[in-house]
Order: sequence, then C-alpha cells, then structure tokens
Amino acid sequence: MCGIIGISAKADVSNDIMTCLKSLSYRGYDSAGMAMVGDGQISERKIKGKVSNLEDYIKNNPISGNCGIGHTRWATHGEPNTINAHPHTISKISIVHNGIIENYHELKTTLKDNGVNFISDTDTEIISQLINIELMNNKQPLDAFIHAISKLEGAYAIAAIFSDYNNLMIASKVGSPLVFMKSKNKTIISSDAYSIAEFGNNITYLEDGDIITSQNNKIHIFDRALNKIKRPSKRISKRTKDGLNGHEHFMMKEIKEQPDVLSYALSNYLDFTEFDIKENKFDFDFSNVERIIISACGTAYFAGMVAKYWLENIANIKVDLEIASEFRYKKMFFDEKSISLFISQSGETADTLAALKYAKQNKQRVISIVNAEESSISNESDLVLPIFAGQEIGVASTKAFTCQLATIASLVLYLGGLKGAITKEQKETYIQELMHIPSQILQSLEFEQTIKKISKDIYKSSSALFIGRGSTLPLAFEGALKLKEISYIHAEGIASGELKHGAIALVDKNLPVIVLAPDDLFYVKNLSNMNEVYARSGKITMIGKVDNEHLKGLAINGIDIDITGKFNIPIIMAVPLQLLAYHVAKLKNKDIDQPRNLAKSVTVE
Ligand code: AGP
Repeated sequence: MCGIIGISAKADVSNDIMTCLKSLSYRGYDSAGMAMVGDGQISERKIKGKVSNLEDYIKNNPISGNCGIGHTRWATHGEPNTINAHPHTISKISIVHNGIIENYHELKTTLKDNGVNFISDTDTEIISQLINIELMNNKQPLDAFIHAISKLEGAYAIAAIFSDYNNLMIASKVGSPLVFMKSKNKTIISSDAYSIAEFGNNITYLEDGDIITSQNNKIHIFDRALNKIKRPSKRISKRTKDGLNGHEHFMMKEIKEQPDVLSYALSNYLDFTEFDIKENKFDFDFSNVERIIISACGTAYFAGMVAKYWLENIANIKVDLEIASEFRYKKMFFDEKSISLFISQSGETADTLAALKYAKQNKQRVISIVNAEESSISNESDLVLPIFAGQEIGVASTKAFTCQLATIASLVLYLGGLKGAITKEQKETYIQELMHIPSQILQSLEFEQTIKKISKDIYKSSSALFIGRGSTLPLAFEGALKLKEISYIHAEGIASGELKHGAIALVDKNLPVIVLAPDDLFYVKNLSNMNEVYARSGKITMIGKVDNEHLKGLAINGIDIDITGKFNIPIIMAVPLQLLAYHVAKLKNKDIDQPRNLAKSVTVE
C-alpha cells in the first residue's frame, strides 16, 4: 500500500502535505516525495527512506506552492530509491499513485516502441507518460486524464497536478481508497480519512470509477462518461477517526480493503517487474526439507488446507495438516527432514502458540505466517512471513484470510522453484496470474447486490450446506464458518463427493446448499453433485462458472466468478462467501463485528 495526498488552497500547502504524509506513513515508507505547481512549472522533491528524510531534505531544499501532491511509498514495481519514488513528473504533469497497474508491461512496451523514454522502473510512470501524450495532443487536462486512465487495468488511486494550471487537481480511484474534504479555503484528497481528520469534520468517500476535479477550491465529481455526479459527505465521528472509513461495520471495510491490501501483500514477495520471487524474503535453509507440518485454528486452519493442496500439487512437497488444539496430543512423527508452519492472524492464539512450542521442544525449525508481526508466535519463529493485511478489527476474519493465501502462494512458488517442481516459465505464468488478483477481487465485489438478494433466500433458514472439491473444499469450510459465526445459522462445509455418504439426508426444499463450482478439473463432478441436490429439491446457490443452462436448470441463484488459475480461484472465491455471510447477518440484525461468545484473538486453550 502507499499513501497519497493532494491539497489545493489559497496559501502555501507544503507544511499541510508533510503533516498528512506523516499520518499516511503506516501505508508504506520506503521512499517519499512531494510536488508543487507554481509560476507555470512543477517543482518536485523526493527521496529514498521515511517521510522524515523528505522533511529534512526539503528543509535544505525548500518547496512551496498553493497546490501540491505528496506520496509515501511501499514499492511494488521498481526498488525503493529516489528515481522510483513518487511523484512522477513528466513535462507538464505530475502524479502520485497507490495500487498496481496490472497491464503496465503491455502499455510500457507499446510506448517504448513509439519512442517514449522511461525514467523509472515503476508501473506508476506509465500513467504520467500516458497523460503527457494526451496533453501534447492538445487535450485539456480532464480529457487527457480520462483518456489515460481508461487504458489502465488494476486497482489504483491517482492524484495529478498540471504545470499550466496553478490550482487544479484531478484524482480518481478504482479499488484503492480515496477520500476528499472541502473546508472553507482548501480542498484535500487523501488515501484515508484518518490522515486528514484534523482539517475538518466532513469527509466524502469516492466510489470506484469516480473522477474528482478541484480548481480554485471548486469541486466537481464525474463518472467515466463525464456525467456530473454527487457523493454524500459524512461527518467524521470518533469511530470514523478510528478507521471505519464510512462503512457500517469493520467487517465490510475489511472486505472492501482486499484489492488494496492484497496488492501490498503480493508485492512484498513477488517482483511484478521481472515476474520473479523476492528470494530474500525467504531467508531460511529449506535444502533438506521434504515434509511440512502445518497447524492453525479456524479460518487460519482453512488457509492451511489450501496450503496443503498447493504445496503438494504444485511444489511437490508432502504436508501434514493438524488442528492446533489437537497438535500436541498427537504422535507427530517429527524428523530432521520436516519443519513446522503455523498460521495465525493475531499471532497470539493460545492453541497455535502451544502447538508451536511443542514443535520446538521436538527440535522442529518453525516458520510462521502472521498478520501481527510483533506477536508471541512471530517471536518464537525461525522465519516470519508477514501477510500485510493491516489491522483486522472484525472478529470474522476476511482480508487476513486472503492475505494468508497470497503469502502462502508466494511461499509455494519459492519452494516449487527451489525443489525443481516449477519451471521458470511456469513461475512467470503463475506470477502474472497473481498480479491480476486485485482486479479480480474488484470484479467479485461487484456481485454485492446479487448477494444481498441471495441472502434473503437464506437468512430465515436454520441450517445451510457449503460443498466444494479440491482447492475450494477449504473454501466450503470457510464459507460455513463465516456464516455461522456472525449470523448464528448452523452451517456445514462438506466435500461434494461426501454428500451422498450421509449429509444428503439433510437435503430438502428448506435447505440452502451453496455449491462452489469454479472452472477447474472438478467442474463436471461438482455439476453432478448439484444434480443430486436438485433431485431432492435442495435450494442451490452456485458460485463459480455459472452459465444459464445450469442456472435455469439446477440453481435458484448464481454468482458467476469465472476465474481460472490454481492460485487465484481459492483466493477470489473467498469474497462472495464473505459478502454472503455479512448480508445474511445484517438481515438478522446481528452484531457483525463482535458476534456473541467470540473474541478476535482466543488467547486461552
Ligand atoms: C475466523 O473468522 C475466526 N474469527 C477464528 O476462527 C480465527 O480464525 C481463529 O480464532 C484463529 O485466529 P488467529 O488467526 O488469530 O490465530
């Protein structure tokens, strides 16, 4: 993640921008920069390192102006250095950006073939270059901006200033957060409400596709067709300052954050410039490892189930998977060729910590995949792989689960390469697939209205079944857990093939059955299981490769998540399941962020 800020006012804004950058530095801080427009030109100051480095640099190389942009970076493309730091200024345009431009390779190749010289290794520079080309073709700034961003794919938030316009800012977002505030004498655009809360009480949250212009403190918001639109402003309450960002529940905020945080998590381990793995992140001797013992609880355990499927089928490494609360009471057959891997969002779950200590007592080397880097589990580990999900407040885990999977996918690619199970070409293909996850999550979030309707068919039920196969069988368990822990409806995940061995006795016209049927090698078998359910009047909701024949014939509801890719399918399939649980619980007026009997971190055994 990165933090972007833009401020236009009647007086110098450089100090305000610096203040906001300090508040935004939690979003990344490997480099920082600022650009100001004035007297027909853009002045830029940027430097490697934290925002404090930029502050010292600007003290010795002052910059001022009434309209400017700022950025604090967490590198996704291009190493952290001054050239790759934002803003990226090309002639009359300067921009800052948060997110990943997924098609930047193609765009950059085309522009280079047309003689455009690039300065940096970033994906961001492509945006400046595209806008600059439109400006040189005599387009007005807004027209140039819209033409340029229409070529972009991925999740991003962008803010731009123009040398020929002393007080013009243009910004837009798709998938990454962007808010704005208008006070009596200044307009502020930022990645989050928290960083600008000191400047006022009313915040407006932009929606995906919105384009905002601020000129001489006059604000206009447009959709992509350049229709003027309005967005309601919200009064910043105490909770908003705590980070609800306009959402009713932290769970929904965290579901919607997934395009942004997954870009962050994936780019920590994968180099999207070279389509390679950042091997230095896996500083651990795997040379004699032939088996991995994985252990966790709850949602993290289901992430471990996906890990087992991927490690065995892609990296060709044997995995034993154990529920943490059972782990230390079982004969675990530790040996010198096995290591133990623990997955935990909080890093404090007592069952998982106890299992980790048991493994260490048995001379196991330990790896942990955690969200809370400063935690008991990470402190006890020989290698820690952070998931970069950011603080997760909702008790029902959402973004942490998908970020766990993204981190596991990176580990699988690293180990697969190390063990010779994955060729260089396969690795590059997998990394290119993973790079599209933020936009695929965005596509799955677009089904929210459909899912709200489907939740009306489910919320009065007393029970529900989730069925899946292969790498989406863990998603069946996870979907059932999400539903039961926040709506209190009993739900069960089960292997589709197991249905006929008993659970099908439950199926009747009152039982919702959620069938996970992605376009994978189990698709045809999943359809035959749907027929078994249909034949007994089960109420089927199909999530996956949905086409009319199956929807009209077998399912009453369908969510067409037509994603391919061994890693992408389980990660993307989590989102409709999260949204379904959320909307069912909302219809039942449950306490979604803090369900009864639960805690965010279970620190007792
Ligand atoms: C998930 O939605 C639940 N809140 C719960 O199962 C959780 O995943 C489990 O308690 C493990 O927590 P951890 O990841 O912090 O170890």
